[in-house]
Amino acid sequence: MAKYIGILTSGGDSPGLNAAIRGVGKAALNQYGMQIVGFRDGFRGLMENRTMRLDAGELSGILTRGGTILGTSRDKPHRMPVGGKLLDMTDVIAENYHDNHLDALVCLGGGGTQKNALRLKEKGLNVITLPKTIDNDVALTDITFGFDTALAIATDAIDRLHSTAHSHHRIIVVEIMGHRAGWLALGAGIAGGADVILIPEIPYAVESVAAAIRERSRRGKPFSIVAVAEGAVSVQEHAEQQATRKAKPKEGKKVEAEDTPETQYAERTVRLAKQLEQLTGLEARITILGHLQRGGTPSAADRLLATRLGTACTELIDRGRYGVMVAARGDGAKAVKLEDVAGKVKTVPPDHSWILSARHVGTNMGD
Ligand code: F6P
Repeated sequence: MAKYIGILTSGGDSPGLNAAIRGVGKAALNQYGMQIVGFRDGFRGLMENRTMRLDAGELSGILTRGGTILGTSRDKPHRMPVGGKLLDMTDVIAENYHDNHLDALVCLGGGGTQKNALRLKEKGLNVITLPKTIDNDVALTDITFGFDTALAIATDAIDRLHSTAHSHHRIIVVEIMGHRAGWLALGAGIAGGADVILIPEIPYAVESVAAAIRERSRRGKPFSIVAVAEGAVSVQEHAEQQATRKAKPKEGKKVEAEDTPETQYAERTVRLAKQLEQLTGLEARITILGHLQRGGTPSAADRLLATRLGTACTELIDRGRYGVMVAARGDGAKAVKLEDVAGKVKTVPPDHSWILSARHVGTNMGD
């Protein structure tokens, strides 16, 4: 009997999602004679049984498109906002999986999706995942799709900010996405030649950053680009964070309105720029790249990666290999157990070669 696959995209969107959907789907239809159905808006669509036909026509012409044709959401099976409350809807999701007679469910997502997929595996579903996120912070894969495209966008932004910072003798603090990991800010900072790169993995001392900027001024370069990752914090903020770990709302508790992480990141970026103005005497400006970094057409490298991992995923389904994430390893793909990936964040190791290279070309890393 031909296998019947469900597929969904979950978490923040990322360039390459459509290329991956196409890779999984075309291999399923052309190579293995399987059928495939999409679920809309992540796990919410599976809970509400909102499907999208994925036949050859729907899979055609999407390789180069940004976003996801399926739609996405950050809803988690076990903490789904329903009627103003967070409820555990895992059983409803499992029921819909069976009612749709699925043989396997493919979940395309980042770190959170790996955890959610593991929960569904524990309910007995045949789940298989692909690693996507511009943050590049999924454990046990060389790289995630979306990262390369975002890296090019952030690097281009730094290139453009250079000439205006130079003309006005200003500091420009450019905030780059990445959540708790510094891969994107570090990669774009190096590629764009930022003078300072601040990442969550290295809490910074603002005095050290200011000293580096003043030194540049002394050498006749009274302008600087500071690439700051969303999650970067000062030494003091880091200590405070360690002390107060915020309690998460429990299942069944009312959903309260609270500051989004974006607001908190922006507040820190504004504070940093003001401090640098005071400590250096230079004028500072802020650019928050935000969701620009996730939009638009995927790079060639992301299309290739997503297609490679997508087709490898279908091959694994054909072999009946479930409960795994299809990780990128060199030129190949490797099935790694969801238990080994879920709950882990791949941050930048302090001795990573990118950090060493940045230091060797004279970049201030805030410490
Ligand atoms: O995880 C991807 C990411 O783009 C992070 O870099 C960023 O912190 C977050 O998503 C933004 O989330 P949202 O789409 O909910 O604004």
